[in-house]
Amino acid sequence: MTFRHRHLLGIEPLHPVEITTILDLADRYVDLNRGARKHGDALAGLTQVNMFFENSTRTQASFELAGKRLGADVMNMSMQASSIKKGETLIDTAMTLNAMHPDLLVVRHPHSGAVNLLAEKVNCAVLNAGDGRHEHPTQALLDALTIRRAKGRLHRLSIAICGDIAHSRVARSNILLLGKMENRIRLVGPPTLMPAGVADWGVEVFDDMRAGLEGVDVVMMLRLQKERMDGGFIPSEREYYHRYGLDAEKLSCARPDAIVMHPGPMNRGVEIDGTLADDINRSVIQEQVEMGVAVRMAAMDLLARNRAAPPAREVMA
Ligand code: NCD
Repeated sequence: MTFRHRHLLGIEPLHPVEITTILDLADRYVDLNRGARKHGDALAGLTQVNMFFENSTRTQASFELAGKRLGADVMNMSMQASSIKKGETLIDTAMTLNAMHPDLLVVRHPHSGAVNLLAEKVNCAVLNAGDGRHEHPTQALLDALTIRRAKGRLHRLSIAICGDIAHSRVARSNILLLGKMENRIRLVGPPTLMPAGVADWGVEVFDDMRAGLEGVDVVMMLRLQKERMDGGFIPSEREYYHRYGLDAEKLSCARPDAIVMHPGPMNRGVEIDGTLADDINRSVIQEQVEMGVAVRMAAMDLLARNRAAPPAREVMA
Protein backbone atom coordinates (compact mmCIF):
# COMPACT_ATOMS: atom_id res chain seq x y z
CA MET A 1 0.00 0.00 0.00
CA THR A 2 1.60 3.24 -1.11
CA PHE A 3 -0.71 5.95 0.23
CA ARG A 4 -0.12 6.65 3.89
CA HIS A 5 -1.96 9.83 4.76
CA ARG A 6 -4.84 10.40 7.15
CA HIS A 7 -6.10 13.47 5.27
CA LEU A 8 -6.00 14.87 1.75
CA LEU A 9 -5.30 18.53 2.42
CA GLY A 10 -3.14 19.37 -0.57
CA ILE A 11 -0.81 18.07 -3.26
CA GLU A 12 2.22 19.47 -1.45
CA PRO A 13 2.81 16.51 0.95
CA LEU A 14 2.19 13.79 -1.67
CA HIS A 15 4.98 11.68 -3.13
CA PRO A 16 4.84 10.96 -6.90
CA VAL A 17 4.24 7.27 -6.11
CA GLU A 18 1.21 8.22 -4.00
CA ILE A 19 -0.15 10.34 -6.83
CA THR A 20 0.22 7.37 -9.17
CA THR A 21 -1.53 5.11 -6.62
CA ILE A 22 -4.58 7.43 -6.54
CA LEU A 23 -4.69 7.71 -10.34
CA ASP A 24 -4.36 3.94 -10.87
CA LEU A 25 -7.24 3.25 -8.50
CA ALA A 26 -9.27 6.05 -10.14
CA ASP A 27 -8.78 4.36 -13.53
CA ARG A 28 -10.49 1.30 -12.08
CA TYR A 29 -13.37 3.44 -10.81
CA VAL A 30 -13.79 4.98 -14.28
CA ASP A 31 -14.59 1.46 -15.52
CA LEU A 32 -17.04 0.88 -12.67
CA ASN A 33 -18.77 4.21 -13.38
CA ARG A 34 -19.14 3.35 -17.07
CA GLY A 35 -20.80 0.03 -16.31
CA ALA A 36 -24.49 -0.65 -15.78
CA ARG A 37 -24.11 -1.28 -12.02
CA LYS A 38 -22.17 1.53 -10.46
CA HIS A 39 -21.83 0.29 -6.91
CA GLY A 40 -18.79 -0.62 -4.85
CA ASP A 41 -18.69 -1.14 -1.10
CA ALA A 42 -15.38 0.50 -0.11
CA LEU A 43 -17.22 3.04 2.08
CA ALA A 44 -20.09 0.82 3.25
CA GLY A 45 -21.17 1.69 6.78
CA LEU A 46 -19.18 4.95 6.79
CA THR A 47 -20.57 8.46 7.12
CA GLN A 48 -19.41 11.22 4.78
CA VAL A 49 -20.26 14.84 5.56
CA ASN A 50 -19.87 17.55 2.92
CA MET A 51 -19.37 21.03 4.39
CA PHE A 52 -19.25 23.68 1.68
CA PHE A 53 -18.78 27.20 3.02
CA GLU A 54 -18.49 28.46 -0.58
CA ASN A 55 -20.85 27.83 -3.48
CA SER A 56 -20.08 24.82 -5.60
CA THR A 57 -21.93 22.90 -8.25
CA ARG A 58 -19.68 20.28 -9.77
CA THR A 59 -17.29 19.63 -6.88
CA GLN A 60 -20.03 19.07 -4.32
CA ALA A 61 -22.11 16.92 -6.70
CA SER A 62 -19.00 14.94 -7.61
CA PHE A 63 -18.07 14.21 -3.96
CA GLU A 64 -21.69 13.29 -3.18
CA LEU A 65 -21.94 10.88 -6.08
CA ALA A 66 -18.51 9.41 -5.33
CA GLY A 67 -19.52 8.66 -1.73
CA LYS A 68 -22.88 7.20 -2.70
CA ARG A 69 -21.37 4.96 -5.37
CA LEU A 70 -19.08 3.47 -2.73
CA GLY A 71 -21.87 2.90 -0.23
CA ALA A 72 -21.31 5.72 2.28
CA ASP A 73 -24.11 7.56 4.05
CA VAL A 74 -23.65 11.06 2.62
CA MET A 75 -24.91 14.23 4.23
CA ASN A 76 -24.66 17.69 2.70
CA MET A 77 -24.55 20.46 5.29
CA SER A 78 -25.95 23.69 3.93
CA MET A 79 -23.39 26.05 5.41
CA GLN A 80 -25.06 29.16 3.98
CA ALA A 81 -28.04 28.55 6.26
CA SER A 82 -26.08 27.15 9.17
CA SER A 83 -25.24 28.37 12.63
CA ILE A 84 -22.11 29.99 11.15
CA LYS A 85 -24.52 32.73 10.19
CA LYS A 86 -25.47 32.94 13.86
CA GLY A 87 -21.83 33.55 14.82
CA GLU A 88 -20.56 30.05 15.60
CA THR A 89 -16.85 29.65 14.91
CA LEU A 90 -15.48 27.17 12.40
CA ILE A 91 -13.96 25.13 15.21
CA ASP A 92 -17.23 24.95 17.19
CA THR A 93 -19.05 23.76 14.09
CA ALA A 94 -16.34 21.17 13.51
CA MET A 95 -16.44 19.92 17.09
CA THR A 96 -20.23 19.59 16.95
CA LEU A 97 -19.97 17.53 13.79
CA ASN A 98 -17.12 15.50 15.22
CA ALA A 99 -19.37 14.39 18.07
CA MET A 100 -21.64 12.73 15.48
CA HIS A 101 -18.75 10.44 14.41
CA PRO A 102 -18.37 11.13 10.71
CA ASP A 103 -15.64 9.11 8.96
CA LEU A 104 -14.97 11.47 6.07
CA LEU A 105 -15.32 15.24 6.12
CA VAL A 106 -15.20 17.07 2.78
CA VAL A 107 -14.64 20.79 3.28
CA ARG A 108 -14.58 23.84 1.01
CA HIS A 109 -13.80 27.18 2.65
CA PRO A 110 -13.03 30.70 1.36
CA HIS A 111 -10.00 31.11 3.66
CA SER A 112 -6.62 29.57 2.83
CA GLY A 113 -5.57 27.24 5.64
CA ALA A 114 -9.05 26.84 7.19
CA VAL A 115 -9.29 23.19 6.12
CA ASN A 116 -5.88 22.33 7.62
CA LEU A 117 -6.94 23.97 10.88
CA LEU A 118 -10.13 21.94 10.95
CA ALA A 119 -8.25 18.71 10.28
CA GLU A 120 -6.29 19.26 13.50
CA LYS A 121 -9.50 19.35 15.53
CA VAL A 122 -11.48 16.35 14.32
CA ASN A 123 -10.97 12.59 14.51
CA CYS A 124 -12.00 11.72 10.96
CA ALA A 125 -10.32 11.94 7.57
CA VAL A 126 -10.57 15.43 6.05
CA LEU A 127 -10.55 16.13 2.30
CA ASN A 128 -9.87 19.64 1.07
CA ALA A 129 -12.41 20.58 -1.63
CA GLY A 130 -10.77 23.99 -2.10
CA ASP A 131 -9.52 26.50 0.49
CA GLY A 132 -9.14 30.12 -0.60
CA ARG A 133 -6.23 30.51 -2.99
CA HIS A 134 -4.31 27.70 -1.35
CA GLU A 135 -5.06 24.21 -2.71
CA HIS A 136 -7.70 22.14 -4.49
CA PRO A 137 -6.04 18.71 -4.54
CA THR A 138 -8.84 16.62 -6.07
CA GLN A 139 -9.07 19.09 -8.97
CA ALA A 140 -5.35 18.68 -9.73
CA LEU A 141 -5.69 14.89 -9.45
CA LEU A 142 -8.64 14.76 -11.83
CA ASP A 143 -6.77 17.04 -14.24
CA ALA A 144 -3.77 14.70 -14.02
CA LEU A 145 -5.93 11.64 -14.73
CA THR A 146 -7.51 13.40 -17.72
CA ILE A 147 -4.07 14.31 -19.10
CA ARG A 148 -2.65 10.81 -18.47
CA ARG A 149 -5.56 9.15 -20.30
CA ALA A 150 -5.47 11.62 -23.24
CA LYS A 151 -1.68 11.67 -23.69
CA GLY A 152 -0.76 8.19 -22.48
CA ARG A 153 1.68 9.57 -19.90
CA LEU A 154 2.02 12.18 -17.16
CA HIS A 155 5.67 13.18 -17.49
CA ARG A 156 7.78 15.21 -19.92
CA LEU A 157 4.76 17.07 -21.25
CA SER A 158 4.72 20.78 -21.96
CA ILE A 159 1.72 22.30 -20.19
CA ALA A 160 0.47 25.90 -20.33
CA ILE A 161 -1.68 27.11 -17.44
CA CYS A 162 -3.36 30.30 -18.59
CA GLY A 163 -5.21 33.26 -17.14
CA ASP A 164 -5.93 34.24 -13.57
CA ILE A 165 -3.12 32.36 -11.83
CA ALA A 166 -2.91 34.77 -8.87
CA HIS A 167 -6.35 33.93 -7.48
CA SER A 168 -6.39 30.25 -8.38
CA ARG A 169 -6.04 27.30 -6.01
CA VAL A 170 -6.50 25.10 -9.10
CA ALA A 171 -3.33 26.56 -10.61
CA ARG A 172 -1.38 26.13 -7.37
CA SER A 173 -2.31 22.47 -6.92
CA ASN A 174 -1.67 21.76 -10.60
CA ILE A 175 1.74 23.45 -10.58
CA LEU A 176 2.72 21.31 -7.56
CA LEU A 177 1.42 18.07 -9.05
CA LEU A 178 2.66 18.52 -12.61
CA GLY A 179 6.05 19.67 -11.29
CA LYS A 180 6.39 16.57 -9.08
CA MET A 181 5.69 14.42 -12.15
CA GLU A 182 8.45 16.20 -14.09
CA ASN A 183 6.56 18.16 -16.68
CA ARG A 184 7.50 21.53 -18.16
CA ILE A 185 5.09 24.16 -16.90
CA ARG A 186 4.40 27.52 -18.46
CA LEU A 187 2.24 30.16 -16.83
CA VAL A 188 0.57 32.50 -19.30
CA GLY A 189 -1.30 35.67 -18.36
CA PRO A 190 -1.06 39.39 -17.69
CA PRO A 191 1.53 40.38 -15.05
CA THR A 192 -1.31 41.69 -12.85
CA LEU A 193 -2.69 38.13 -12.57
CA MET A 194 0.63 36.45 -11.73
CA PRO A 195 1.24 35.66 -8.06
CA ALA A 196 4.09 37.33 -6.21
CA GLY A 197 7.22 35.18 -6.10
CA VAL A 198 6.35 33.26 -9.27
CA ALA A 199 9.96 33.58 -10.47
CA ASP A 200 10.99 31.03 -7.78
CA TRP A 201 8.46 28.37 -8.77
CA GLY A 202 10.53 26.62 -11.43
CA VAL A 203 8.10 27.56 -14.21
CA GLU A 204 8.36 29.71 -17.33
CA VAL A 205 6.22 32.85 -17.34
CA PHE A 206 4.75 34.46 -20.47
CA ASP A 207 2.57 37.51 -20.90
CA ASP A 208 2.18 36.92 -24.63
CA MET A 209 -0.32 34.11 -25.12
CA ARG A 210 0.82 33.01 -28.58
CA ALA A 211 4.44 32.71 -27.40
CA GLY A 212 3.30 30.86 -24.26
CA LEU A 213 1.28 28.31 -26.24
CA GLU A 214 4.02 27.59 -28.79
CA GLY A 215 4.43 23.81 -29.05
CA VAL A 216 2.60 22.84 -25.84
CA ASP A 217 0.79 19.49 -25.36
CA VAL A 218 -1.84 20.77 -22.92
CA VAL A 219 -3.62 24.13 -22.63
CA MET A 220 -5.27 24.56 -19.24
CA MET A 221 -7.53 27.61 -19.04
CA LEU A 222 -8.62 29.19 -15.76
CA ARG A 223 -11.69 31.18 -14.87
CA LEU A 224 -11.28 34.88 -14.29
CA GLN A 225 -12.07 34.82 -10.54
CA LYS A 226 -13.93 38.11 -10.30
CA GLU A 227 -15.15 37.33 -6.78
CA ARG A 228 -11.55 37.31 -5.53
CA MET A 229 -10.62 40.60 -7.21
CA ASP A 230 -10.97 44.00 -5.66
CA GLY A 231 -10.80 45.88 -8.97
CA GLY A 232 -8.13 46.99 -11.43
CA PHE A 233 -6.68 43.64 -12.51
CA ILE A 234 -7.78 43.81 -16.15
CA PRO A 235 -8.67 46.79 -18.37
CA SER A 236 -11.96 45.21 -19.56
CA GLU A 237 -13.33 41.74 -20.29
CA ARG A 238 -13.33 42.53 -24.01
CA GLU A 239 -9.66 43.48 -23.96
CA TYR A 240 -8.86 40.42 -21.82
CA TYR A 241 -10.56 38.10 -24.30
CA HIS A 242 -8.69 39.72 -27.15
CA ARG A 243 -5.29 39.13 -25.51
CA TYR A 244 -5.81 36.04 -23.33
CA GLY A 245 -9.06 34.39 -24.39
CA LEU A 246 -8.42 30.97 -25.96
CA ASP A 247 -9.79 30.71 -29.51
CA ALA A 248 -8.91 28.49 -32.48
CA GLU A 249 -6.40 31.01 -33.80
CA LYS A 250 -4.35 31.19 -30.57
CA LEU A 251 -4.66 27.42 -30.08
CA SER A 252 -3.02 26.90 -33.50
CA CYS A 253 0.29 27.92 -31.83
CA ALA A 254 0.13 24.76 -29.66
CA ARG A 255 0.86 21.25 -30.94
CA PRO A 256 -1.77 20.03 -33.43
CA ASP A 257 -2.84 17.35 -30.92
CA ALA A 258 -2.88 19.66 -27.88
CA ILE A 259 -5.85 19.23 -25.57
CA VAL A 260 -7.90 22.06 -24.05
CA MET A 261 -8.90 21.94 -20.37
CA HIS A 262 -10.96 24.11 -18.00
CA PRO A 263 -11.96 23.27 -14.39
CA GLY A 264 -15.32 25.04 -14.73
CA PRO A 265 -17.37 27.06 -14.25
CA MET A 266 -16.48 28.75 -17.57
CA ASN A 267 -16.95 32.36 -18.56
CA ARG A 268 -17.59 31.78 -22.27
CA GLY A 269 -16.29 34.66 -24.36
CA VAL A 270 -14.07 35.90 -21.50
CA GLU A 271 -11.32 33.28 -21.03
CA ILE A 272 -12.44 30.81 -23.69
CA ASP A 273 -14.38 30.77 -26.95
CA GLY A 274 -17.63 28.82 -26.47
CA THR A 275 -17.35 26.88 -29.74
CA LEU A 276 -13.83 25.72 -28.88
CA ALA A 277 -14.92 24.66 -25.37
CA ASP A 278 -17.56 22.42 -27.00
CA ASP A 279 -15.26 21.00 -29.70
CA ILE A 280 -14.97 17.32 -28.78
CA ASN A 281 -11.85 16.97 -30.95
CA ARG A 282 -9.87 19.42 -28.80
CA SER A 283 -11.68 19.99 -25.52
CA VAL A 284 -11.57 17.42 -22.68
CA ILE A 285 -13.69 19.54 -20.33
CA GLN A 286 -16.43 16.90 -20.06
CA GLU A 287 -13.83 14.16 -19.43
CA GLN A 288 -12.50 16.28 -16.55
CA VAL A 289 -15.94 16.16 -14.93
CA GLU A 290 -16.14 12.38 -15.44
CA MET A 291 -12.63 11.85 -14.02
CA GLY A 292 -13.59 13.98 -11.01
CA VAL A 293 -16.04 11.39 -9.69
CA ALA A 294 -13.53 8.54 -10.14
CA VAL A 295 -10.67 10.44 -8.49
CA ARG A 296 -12.83 11.33 -5.49
CA MET A 297 -13.90 7.69 -5.15
CA ALA A 298 -10.24 6.65 -5.19
CA ALA A 299 -9.17 9.31 -2.68
CA MET A 300 -11.96 8.48 -0.21
CA ASP A 301 -11.36 4.74 -0.63
CA LEU A 302 -7.65 5.13 0.21
CA LEU A 303 -8.32 7.42 3.18
CA ALA A 304 -10.95 5.02 4.52
CA ARG A 305 -8.40 2.18 4.43
CA ASN A 306 -5.90 4.29 6.39
CA ARG A 307 -8.58 5.25 8.91
CA ALA A 308 -8.67 1.70 10.26
CA ALA A 309 -4.92 1.73 10.96
CA PRO A 310 -3.68 5.31 11.12
CA PRO A 311 0.05 5.69 10.40
CA ALA A 312 2.24 6.18 13.47
CA ARG A 313 3.52 9.51 12.25
CA GLU A 314 1.42 11.89 10.22
CA VAL A 315 3.27 13.03 7.09
CA MET A 316 1.40 16.11 6.03
CA ALA A 317 1.94 19.80 5.80
C1 NCD B 1 -12.65 25.80 -9.23
C2 NCD B 1 -12.66 26.22 -7.78
O1 NCD B 1 -13.70 26.30 -7.16
O2 NCD B 1 -11.57 26.48 -7.31
N1 NCD B 1 -13.78 25.16 -9.69
C3 NCD B 1 -13.98 23.85 -9.42
O3 NCD B 1 -13.72 23.35 -8.36
N2 NCD B 1 -14.48 23.11 -10.43
C4 NCD B 1 -12.23 26.88 -10.12
C5 NCD B 1 -13.08 28.10 -10.21
O4 NCD B 1 -13.95 28.35 -9.38
O5 NCD B 1 -12.85 28.85 -11.16
